[in-house]
This record gives sequence, structure tokens and C-alpha cells, in this order.
Amino acid sequence: MVELLKVVGGGRLVGEVHVTGAKNSVLKLMAAALLAEGTTTLLDVPDILDVEIMAELLRRLGCEVSHNRIQSTVEICVPAVLDHRADYDLVRRMRASICVLGPLLARCGAAEVALPGGDNIGSRGLDMHVEGLIKLGAQAVNEHGYLIASSKQRLRGDLVYLDFPSVGATETILMAAVTALGTTVIDNVAREPEIIDICIMLNAMGAQISGLGTSTLTIDGVDALQPVTHRTVPDRIVAGTWAVAAVITQGDITIRNARAEHLQIALDKLVTAGAVVSILDDGFRVSMNQRPLAVDIVTLPYPGFPTDLQPQFIALNAIADGAALVTENLFEARFRFVQELARLGADVRTDGHHALVRGHQKLSGAPVEATDIRAGAGLVLAGLVAEGVTSVYGVSHIDRGYAGFVQDLQRLGADISRIEEDALKPQG
Ligand code: UD1
Repeated sequence: MVELLKVVGGGRLVGEVHVTGAKNSVLKLMAAALLAEGTTTLLDVPDILDVEIMAELLRRLGCEVSHNRIQSTVEICVPAVLDHRADYDLVRRMRASICVLGPLLARCGAAEVALPGGDNIGSRGLDMHVEGLIKLGAQAVNEHGYLIASSKQRLRGDLVYLDFPSVGATETILMAAVTALGTTVIDNVAREPEIIDICIMLNAMGAQISGLGTSTLTIDGVDALQPVTHRTVPDRIVAGTWAVAAVITQGDITIRNARAEHLQIALDKLVTAGAVVSILDDGFRVSMNQRPLAVDIVTLPYPGFPTDLQPQFIALNAIADGAALVTENLFEARFRFVQELARLGADVRTDGHHALVRGHQKLSGAPVEATDIRAGAGLVLAGLVAEGVTSVYGVSHIDRGYAGFVQDLQRLGADISRIEEDALKPQG
């Protein structure tokens, strides 16, 4: 049997949604818990597959992990002695598993992490992670599909320049440096809200990190960290996906537990497309009563336009009035999803980093395959405005990043259901 989402296009989405904590933060917060012996509690944890994978990974390292889905909490009990090997069977399912590399090296003086798989969105190197750890005194080799890092002595603070503000490399080096001897300065770091969230938690645990939200983080190493309770920052990509859903369906959605300041460029683009965005105390409201105008976008590291909202905006442009140029600067293969969108009748031509999207009044429902989390979200959004039925396969990708997506869409008025189909039976 194969699972799919059946979307019948047509309706406006109207109502309220509540956004949970950010996937891209909580996975790293779970890894950061490894740095302190004892029980760390995380609040506002999304009920998504990736949290389960990370919980299993931590269990195999020797932690006790309990995930309370009703209360949206995760409790991680970290022992005095940890195992330091993250196996391929889990790491290949989720690239973010690499975030245990820094904490394991800091805690155990050694880490063996299988080279990751995860999203199917192009080559995603680890060179900056490795170079940063070497700068702090570690040795690193790549053997039998594992990245093996070790350090006979405690890591030593140093000056690390990143070639590019990589989210993952910033996190690895940061988490390795918090208990290093002396001061580490990491320059050209990623400034995503999720990085700030990790720094806030680490500082609460006793770390000495300054420069939060700037391009340079200064870390004065401390001897040990203590466990804490920490609330995860809201998921700006999920919030942004709901904002696009409101605009594409010419609907009206109030998005609670969301921070408009984390989505400034994306919301500004939606206003350019013709939407009304009102800021509320705990979120924002997006309403639209006309066919959207096409909007150009260029993805860049934060605070630039997020690559994780690029497929959703391509879907929006596919039904917009006019043509838009979309430039993807982070992941070369992210345009792969365009071939699926073309099955719905979208007119998108790609050339290297660029996609030219010519808006059409209508899309027409068809079977499509999600190739990664955000492509899946983009295809569902397109299905909401396509005539007839769109069957979105590859649902597990969507489950990796969007908690309760189908239920929320149904509550907003979408005609969507999750069904199982016999993979071998011809479908009509
Ligand atoms: C994180 C997010 C992902 C988001 C991305 C960019 C998580 C779990 N994932 O991914 O959703 O799309 O940030 O905002 O948080 N690179 C190298 N060498 C390195 C590291 C990165 O060449 O050592 C390249 C990658 O191939 C990619 C680019 O840098 O082209 C961005 O990668 P990075 O910022 O590290 O993204 P991730 O941490 O993988």
C-alpha cells in the first residue's frame, strides 16, 4: 500500500491555525541536550517524523527520550557516559542527524556519524563543518561511509571563518566550541532565528556566547553545561506556508504563534502580490481577495528570502497574473519539483539557478510526487487551486516537516484527505 494526499481544488481557505515550534530548531536543541548530563525538557515540540528519528538517534547514544505528543514536550535524560556512534540507518533518513557531531565530539572526545542523506535537494557538503572542527584541534577522517572526528585533548578555542553562512556548519562548530578551552570566534555565521534559539538555550545551560543575531559569534568556553527547560522558537517556514496558502486560495488565515519579524521579506512579497497582512500580538493575519500578482524572488541566507519557501512561491506564481523570475542560490536541485508542478499545467522554465514562471489562470489536477518537504508543501498548495483532483505521493516527506497539516487544511475548508492505495493496482 502507498499513502497519498488527495486534494480537490477550488475552495478558499478561511480560519485560524496555530504554528508549533520549528523543526529546524528543535532537532538541534535535542542534539544540544547531549552537552549536559541530566534531564533537558523541550517545549512546543512539533509532532513530526524528524523528531521521532532524532529521538531514536539519541536513544541509541544512551539517552532516555520521552515525547509527549499531547503536551508537545520532549524530555531527554542524558547519561554521564554516551555512546558516540550515529548509525547509517537513521542518519540516512534525516540529514539533520549530523548535528550530533559537534556535541558528541565535545562530550566524548570522539564522534562517528554516518554521512547523511535526507532531502533530495542537491549536494550538501560538510567541508565547513569539518574544517571548523579541525581548527578547534580535532582530527577528522572519512572512513567506510562515516565521518570520524576525534580529539585526544579538550578542544581549543580559535578563530574560524566560514566561506558561506552555512546553518549546519555554524551549529556544529558552535556546539563543539561551548566547552572548548579559551575563546572561539566564528565569523560569517548563519543568522537564522533557529541559530539564535540554540544560542539562547546554550546560554541558559551555562554557555558564554555573545553576538547573537550578528555575523560573528564569540564563545568563551566553559567547563560543563547544565540541563534546562526551553521553549522552541515558532516555525517560520510553516507560518510562511500558511501565509502563501491564504494568498493562493484568495482566502483569509490568521496564523497564531508566529513571528512576522522572522518573515519580513516573504510577507512583503505577499503584499506586493496584493495581499493584506496585519500584524497581531501573537502572529499575523493574511487575506486576499483577488488573483495574486506574480512576484520575483531571490533566495539567500537569512535575513534574505528563505529557500524553504521557494517551492511554495513558485506554486503561487504559477497561478499569478504575470511572469516572475525565481533565483535559487542555496540548493541547486531544488527546482526538481518544477517537473512535478508542470504535471498540473504550470508554465515554468528553468535555467541553472533561475526559473521563469509564467502565471496561468488555471492549473489542472494530476498525480504528482513530492521529492522533499517543501516541494511537498508547494505541490499541496498548487493542488488547492487546481481544477479537479491532485494526488500528492511521497507523503512521508511532508510528514517530516508539517505537524497535523491535513487536519489544519481541513479545518480551514480544504477538500483534502489522506488515503492508502494499492501500489500495484492500476489507478483511474
Ligand atoms: C538548513 C535547513 C534547511 C534550509 C537550509 C538553508 C535544517 C535541518 N535544515 O540546512 O531546511 O534549507 O538550512 O536555510 O536546519 N554547504 C557546503 N559545505 C558545508 C555546509 C554547507 O558546501 O560544510 C552548502 C550546502 O551544500 C548548501 C548551502 O551550503 O548549498 C547551505 O547549506 P546549510 O546552510 O548548511 O543548510 P543546512 O544546514 O543543510
